[in-house]
Amino acid sequence: MIEELFGLEGKSALVVGASKGLGKAMALALAGAGAAVAVASRSQMLIEEVRDEIIASGRKAFAVKTDISREEDIIGMARRVIDSFGRIDILVNNAGIYIPAMALDMTAEDWDKTLNINLKGFFLSCKAVGRHMADQKSGKIINIASVLGKRAAQTSSAYSASKAAIIQLTRSLALELAPHNINVNAISPGWFETEMVEEELSNPKTRKFFLKKTPLGRFGVPEELGGAVIFLASKASDYMTGETITIDGGFSIC
Ligand SMILES: NC(=O)c1ccc[n+]([C@@H]2O[C@H](COP(=O)([O-])OP(=O)(O)OC[C@H]3O[C@@H](n4cnc5c(N)ncnc54)[C@H](OP(=O)(O)O)[C@@H]3O)[C@@H](O)[C@H]2O)c1
Repeated sequence: MIEELFGLEGKSALVVGASKGLGKAMALALAGAGAAVAVASRSQMLIEEVRDEIIASGRKAFAVKTDISREEDIIGMARRVIDSFGRIDILVNNAGIYIPAMALDMTAEDWDKTLNINLKGFFLSCKAVGRHMADQKSGKIINIASVLGKRAAQTSSAYSASKAAIIQLTRSLALELAPHNINVNAISPGWFETEMVEEELSNPKTRKFFLKKTPLGRFGVPEELGGAVIFLASKASDYMTGETITIDGGFSIC
């Protein structure tokens, strides 16, 4: 029963932004549930290490170097994964950057860079893989947003705007892709200790401030997204679309 609902045996997944942090943990979780997993990012060496870890666990894996700020890379990534696995059942859009700056000091270049990767890259990836999923009449798309897509924080205007847009992009795509039997959902993580927030959380004052605002009293570890991504990738979530699951130790309830 559990295996039938949550098992991913025979499914193939693509995790974009899987070289480290949350993306790597989600790629390993999907493989653990039985999926063949393609891992993508700009760092060839790191994605090959993740690929090898998945293969060592007994699952199929494939590494595809991709920069999601380039449309030709995204189209090539989708084509190479389909050539290698024959299909893509699950797409996790996770690649993201955070350039901290107060709005009045942020350059237009950094604004564009953030929106290009965190929003346009997601859209183009959904489009390239979504077309293929529409042809195969099934698919699960999971976009990684953030609690900052709903809450405000200083030095995060571009990042927060991109993540709020991801929540709405997820809803819009859910509506348009539902007739093709494609579910589109999002996960909004709170504070997880990864390279992205390393510098910020290394400041004892900031650390204390966010811990105080988190009812569970600690930051998340990447493996704690595993259950949600398996759920959204599996049959268990077949009647759910356009939704965002928040995993943040309670940060956004206060
Ligand atoms: N950590 C948190 O507290 C937190 C909270 C809320 C939301 N999130 C979101 O969760 C996602 C993962 O974050 P993380 O904390 O795991 O950060 P991370 O450790 O910095 O990892 C970011 C990932 O994105 C990839 N990436 C960045 N730019 C890319 C590009 N142009 N093309 C392809 N891949 C690219 C990186 O790979 P390469 O550098 O190898 O290309 C890496 O795999 C992001 O979308 C982030 O906004 C994180």
